[in-house]
Amino acid sequence: MKAIDIRNKYLKFFEKYGHKVIPSAPLVPENDSSVLFTTAGMQPLVPYLLGEKHPEGRRIVDYQKCLRTVDIDEVGDNRHLTFFEMLGNWSLGDYFKEDAIKMSYEFLTKELKIPVEKIFVTCFKGDDDAPCDETSERIWKQVGIPKEHIYFFGKENNWWIAGEEGPCGPDTEMFYDTGKPACGEECDPSCDCGKYVEIWNNVFMEYYKQKDGTYEKLKQQNVDTGLGLERINMLLQGKETPYDTEIFKPIMDKLIELQKIDNISSRRIIAEHLRSSMMMICDGVRPSNMDRGYVLRRLIRRMTRHLNKLQINLENLEELIKLNVEILEEMYPELEHNKEVIEQVILEEKNKFIKTLQHGERELEKAIERTKKENKDKIDGNIVFKLYDTYGFPPELTNDLAKEKGLKIDMKEFEKLYKEHQDKSRAGAEQKFKGGLADQNEKTIEYHTATHLLHKALQIVLGEHAKQKGSNITEERLRFDFSHPQKVTKEELEEVEKIVNEQIQKGLEVTCKEMTIEEAKKDGATGLFEEKYGEKVKVYSIGEFSKEICGGPHVTNTKNMGTFKIKKEEASSSGVRRIKAVLIK
Ligand code: ALA
Repeated sequence: MKAIDIRNKYLKFFEKYGHKVIPSAPLVPENDSSVLFTTAGMQPLVPYLLGEKHPEGRRIVDYQKCLRTVDIDEVGDNRHLTFFEMLGNWSLGDYFKEDAIKMSYEFLTKELKIPVEKIFVTCFKGDDDAPCDETSERIWKQVGIPKEHIYFFGKENNWWIAGEEGPCGPDTEMFYDTGKPACGEECDPSCDCGKYVEIWNNVFMEYYKQKDGTYEKLKQQNVDTGLGLERINMLLQGKETPYDTEIFKPIMDKLIELQKIDNISSRRIIAEHLRSSMMMICDGVRPSNMDRGYVLRRLIRRMTRHLNKLQINLENLEELIKLNVEILEEMYPELEHNKEVIEQVILEEKNKFIKTLQHGERELEKAIERTKKENKDKIDGNIVFKLYDTYGFPPELTNDLAKEKGLKIDMKEFEKLYKEHQDKSRAGAEQKFKGGLADQNEKTIEYHTATHLLHKALQIVLGEHAKQKGSNITEERLRFDFSHPQKVTKEELEEVEKIVNEQIQKGLEVTCKEMTIEEAKKDGATGLFEEKYGEKVKVYSIGEFSKEICGGPHVTNTKNMGTFKIKKEEASSSGVRRIKAVLIK
C-alpha cells in the first residue's frame, strides 16, 4: 500500500459513514491572517466548528496539506517534516465520542489491518477546566482495547488547540507500538523514545478558550481528527523513516547517485525541503524577506547549502525538481500544472544564493594566496570557519578547493571554533547564512530576553546545575537546552513560568555593560565560561534578576513582552532537557 492508497481508503471509509469529501485547502490560509501557513486540518474549518453551517453538511472528510515551521531545525533526523498531509474526519455538531472512536478503531484494525496488540491509546485525565474523559476510556474498552493499553494524561498531552485562543477540547490519541525496546521504567505513550508512535488524534471540541485563558462551552460538540499520512504510511510499510517510503525514496536514491560526500542527514534535508518548497510555490508563495516568503527562501537556501555539502553539482537541481513532480503528481496534481513556475522560482533563488557563495569563493582565493605567501601548507581554521559561518561554505568544500591548490585546511582549529560558536550561533549562523537578510526583529529580540529570564528561573527552581547547553530562537518560539538529569515536573514548570511572568510584569530595565571576562565573573555574571570569549564582553542585566554575558540584542524593558508560556519539555540528549516556550500577547 502506498500513501495515496491509504488516503483513498480513508476517504472511502468515511464516505460510507455519511461523510462528504472536501479537497485540501491551500497551504496559505485564505481568510486567516493570524497564521502563516495551514498547520492542521481544522484551521480552514474553524467557522464551522464555531457553529456556521457547512455547505456539505455535518460530516466531512478531508486530506489537508499542512506546513509547520517550528521544527525546521529538526529536519534531517528520522521523523520531523515541515510539509505533511493530515487526513481528517469531522463531525460539525453531529456524532461525538462514541461514533468517532468506533470508526477510528474500525479503520485501524479492519481497513489498515493493524493488530489490536499494537494499538495503545491515551485519554484526558481531567483538571479544573474539564473532567476526566471516562467516556472515551469506556468506549475504547468496549471496542476491544485492553485496559493496560489505555493511559491518562493531562493537558500537555491530551488537549488540543491551535494557538492560544479558539475551539479546543480533550483528545484521545492512538499510538502504534513499533516493538522497539522501551527506553526505561517510565516509558509509555507520552515518551518520545520511538517505541510508541502517535498515529491519530481525535479531538472532542466542545470548548472555546478565550483570550483571558478561561474556557466556555461551544454551541455544538465537534470532532476534529488528524491522522498523519506520511507517518502511518511509514509504519504500515514497516519502514523506520518516511524517507524510506515511496514519497521520498526515489529522490533519496538519486541523491546517493549524485553525491560525492555521504551524509544521510543532508540528503533528508534536501529531499524534505525540496518537497515543501515545491508545495509552497504551488500555493502561491514566493521567496522574500518577509513572513511566508522568508520561510520559503530559508528552505531553498538550506537545501542548496546541503547540495553543496554533498558536493552535488547545482545544475542537477532541475532534474531533481522534475523527478519530484513525477513522484508526487499522483497525490498532488497541482505540481504538474505548476511545474514551470516551480522550476523557475527555485532556480532563481538558487542563483541568488550562489552569488552570496561566490563572494565566499573570492575570500577563499585570497586566503589561499596568503597561505602560500606565508609558506604554510594549511589554511587557517578561522578562515575555514568564516567561510562556513558567513558564506555557507561547508568545510569539506573548502578542503576540496584547497586541495586543488595543493593545500590542506586546519580542520582541528575549525572544529574547535565551530564548537565554541555552536551555542551562540545556532540561531545566529542561520541568520547569517540567510545572507544578513533577516536581521533581528522585535519578536526574536523579545525571545532572546525571555531566554535569559528562563535560564535564571530554571536555576532558581531546579538548582545551579541547570545551565544553558543550547539555544535557538525563531519568530515563533524559543528553544532552550539545559543540563538537568531528569524530567522537569509539571509543578516545576509552572513555577518557572510563574517566575518568568512575574519578572516580565515588573517592567524591568535591561542594561548592558562592557567589561573584561574577569570583571564579569567577579560581578557574578552567568556565562558559558568553557567557551572562548574575546577580551571584553558585554554583560546584560535584567533588573537585579539576571546577569549574563551575551552579545545581545535585548529589549530595553521587559514590560511589553507578553505572557510567557512553556509549550513543551522533553529530553534533548543524555542529561540535557529541552524546553520550547512562547510569548503570548
Ligand atoms: N487538530 C488535531 C491535530 O492537529 C487533530 O492533531
